[in-house]
Amino acid sequence: MKCRCGRSAVFHSKVYRITLCDRCYPKFYVNLVKRSIKRYRILKSSERVLVCVSGGKDSSAMAYALKELGYNIELFHIDLGIGSYSKESLKAVEELAQTLNLDLNVVKLKDYGFTIDDVERKKVCSACGIVKRYLMNRFAREKGFDVVATAHTCEDIILFFIKNMLSGNVEYIAKLKPRIEGYDKLVAKAKPLFERTEKENATLVLTLNLPFTPLECPHAPKDVWKEIIYDVEAKKKGFKLNFVKAIAKLAENVSTEEWEVKHCKICGEVSNSEVCSFCKLVRRYARNVS
Ligand code: AMP
Ligand code: FES
Ligand code: ZN
Repeated sequence: MKCRCGRSAVFHSKVYRITLCDRCYPKFYVNLVKRSIKRYRILKSSERVLVCVSGGKDSSAMAYALKELGYNIELFHIDLGIGSYSKESLKAVEELAQTLNLDLNVVKLKDYGFTIDDVERKKVCSACGIVKRYLMNRFAREKGFDVVATAHTCEDIILFFIKNMLSGNVEYIAKLKPRIEGYDKLVAKAKPLFERTEKENATLVLTLNLPFTPLECPHAPKDVWKEIIYDVEAKKKGFKLNFVKAIAKLAENVSTEEWEVKHCKICGEVSNSEVCSFCKLVRRYARNVS
């Protein structure tokens, strides 16, 4: 297959009815991200954006696109202390920062007295989510960033949606907004890649030879819902994009105004109980903290 410019193709999409080469694809990709940001008001040009990078393909693609679009960005990485996976991830984000000529901020969970590998197997993923949300928000606020950007893909959003709906967690949908405004001590959150697929992100980083690690977290469970989402897309092209747009529309209509703000009595961050989930983890797992 050939690109419209005549060169051989690296990307073909039935959804966008387009075939592109390695030179035309990055421009097409960045333009799609630009359109999402504009349509859903995900970022403002005046904002300082903390771009959260895991070392994986999705966040490397996000860093590239936001840099190309001229946003005021710095990279942020949390070293979770997950054996060789975390070592490779850190190496990838260091290389990414160098390639894109961006400042990189690294926070090590170990500095709080524990690592994700110290958490019991059953609680690893939820503990990891708590750690990421807490450290991203706290770092961003303390260092004067206006918004935290994460590279959640359309597959991630659909997965969250299905799982939470099935467990009756209907109000959770508010968390799936492409942009969540900040309040109290919470910084605004942005998902500029919420309409992008994993395949689009992978094609970008491979085409541009951007640094990333192909390693998956060893704690990540095999997710049958992800396979189902891919199966539906294979039978019904455009399902993922249409579904994620519908989720965004639904989420926009959910109000978050009634959420009561409490603060953790240990760290002072926003919490829904006396002690926040992060401080509970520190209490439970930290070896050198009582
Ligand atoms: P996950 O929670 O692994 O599904 O990742 C969702 C998003 O959070 C990624 O796309 C990144 O933007 C961000 N993220 C994940 N892990 C890290 C990390 N170790 N450090 C900084 N950001 C991360
Ligand atoms: Fe958090 Fe795997 S990255 S448990
Ligand atoms: Zn706390």
